[in-house]
Amino acid sequence: MSKIMLAMSGWRAAPWGLGVAWTPRAVLRQVSSLPTYSFPTEVKVVEVGPRDGLQNEKINVPTEVKINLINMLSESGLKSVEATSFVSPKWVPQMADHVKVMQGIKKYPNVSYPVLTPNLTGFQTAVECGAKEVAIFGAASELFSKKNINCTIEESLQRFKAVTDAAKEANIPVRGYVSCVLGCPYEGKVSPSKVAEVAHKMFAMGCYEISLGDTIGVGTPGSMKDMLTAVLDVIPSKALAVHCHDTYGQALANILVALQMGIHVVDSSIAGLGGCPYAQGASGNVATEDVVYMLQGLGIHTGIDLKKLTEAGTYICKALGRRSNSKVAQATCKL
Ligand code: HMG
Ligand code: MG
Repeated sequence: MSKIMLAMSGWRAAPWGLGVAWTPRAVLRQVSSLPTYSFPTEVKVVEVGPRDGLQNEKINVPTEVKINLINMLSESGLKSVEATSFVSPKWVPQMADHVKVMQGIKKYPNVSYPVLTPNLTGFQTAVECGAKEVAIFGAASELFSKKNINCTIEESLQRFKAVTDAAKEANIPVRGYVSCVLGCPYEGKVSPSKVAEVAHKMFAMGCYEISLGDTIGVGTPGSMKDMLTAVLDVIPSKALAVHCHDTYGQALANILVALQMGIHVVDSSIAGLGGCPYAQGASGNVATEDVVYMLQGLGIHTGIDLKKLTEAGTYICKALGRRSNSKVAQATCKL
C-alpha cells in the first residue's frame, strides 16, 4: 500500500512506523505538505543536435548531411535549432564547415539558428555568415574552462563581455551556457553557489537566457534541485534553460524536476547524439524524441510533430551508421 493510501486509511507508512493511528485532520495536513506538482503549459525545446550532437563525431560528417538534418529539424516544429559553432577548427575539426552550414540551410521564418561563438573573432564571422543569434559558453569549473576554451573563468568572462557588447550594438540576442553545473570531469563536485555566481555574471552582461549544462550527465534530481535553488535566487526562472547530457540515465528525471521548479526551456539532441570533445566520457544529450514524448504525456504544448522529429533522427542515424540513443525511436522505428 502506498504512503498516501496508508495515510488515508488512518495509518502511517514507513519511515515513521506502521500502526500509529492518524486523525483525518492530521492526514489532510500531511497530504497538503506533499510537494505540489505544477508544470508549465508550454515548453520550448532547443535542439542542439547539429552542434552538440555532431561536434564529437570522429569521422567527418558531410556538410550536406548537416544541412539536410537542420532542414528536417526545422520542419518538425522546433523553434530553435543550434546550427554549428564558430570555434577554432584546430580545436573542433567537425565544426570547421560552419560557414557552409550557415549559408546552406533554409532559414525558416519561425525558427532561430543560434551558433556558438567563444570570442569576438567567432562572433564577427558568424554575423558575416548571417547568424541572427549567438551563444557564449562558460563554465562553473576552472579546469573545464581551461581545457575547453583555454582560459580561466575570469578571462572567459572578459571575452564574453566583448561579444555581448558587440551583440548589443548589432541587436543580436545572446544565449549563455554554463557548463559543469552538476559536476566536472576534472574537478568533481561543483558547488551550486559557484554555478549561481557565473550564471549571474553572464546574465548581467546581457544574455537573454542562461542554459545550465550538466556536461557529463552526473546529476540526479536531488543535485538538480539544489543547484536550481541557488540559481533561482539570482536569475528568474523564465530566463533559464536546462541542458542535460544523459551519461547516467538521469536526464529525463532531472528535466522533470526543473519543469516543476518553473523552468520552461529544455535543450536536447536528436537521437541523443553527442558529447563534448573536452569532457571525456560524456555521452550524448538527452534525446529530443524522448523529451517531446514526455512533454506530450504531461499535456505540455511544444508545437513539435513527433513523427517528423523521429524521421530526422532516423535520417541522421542512417547517415552515421548508428543506432539511435532515443528510447522512443528504438520503440517505434526498430532501428
Ligand atoms: P586558443 O588557442 O587559446 O585561441 O583557443 P587563440 O586566440 O590563441 O587562437 C588560436 C588559433 O585559433 C588562431 O589561429 C586563431 O585565429 C584561431 P592560428 O593563428 O593558430 O591559425 N581562432 C579561431 N578560429 C576560428 N574561430 C574562432 C577562433 N578563435 C581563435 N572563434 C578558443 C581559444 C576559444 C578559440 C578554442 O579553445 C576553441 O575554439 N574552443 C572551442 C571548444 C569547443 O567548441 N568545445 C565544445 C563546445 S562547449 C560544449 O559542448 C558544452 C555545452 O554543450 C554545454 C554543456 O554541455 O555543458 C555548450
Ligand atoms: Mg552539451
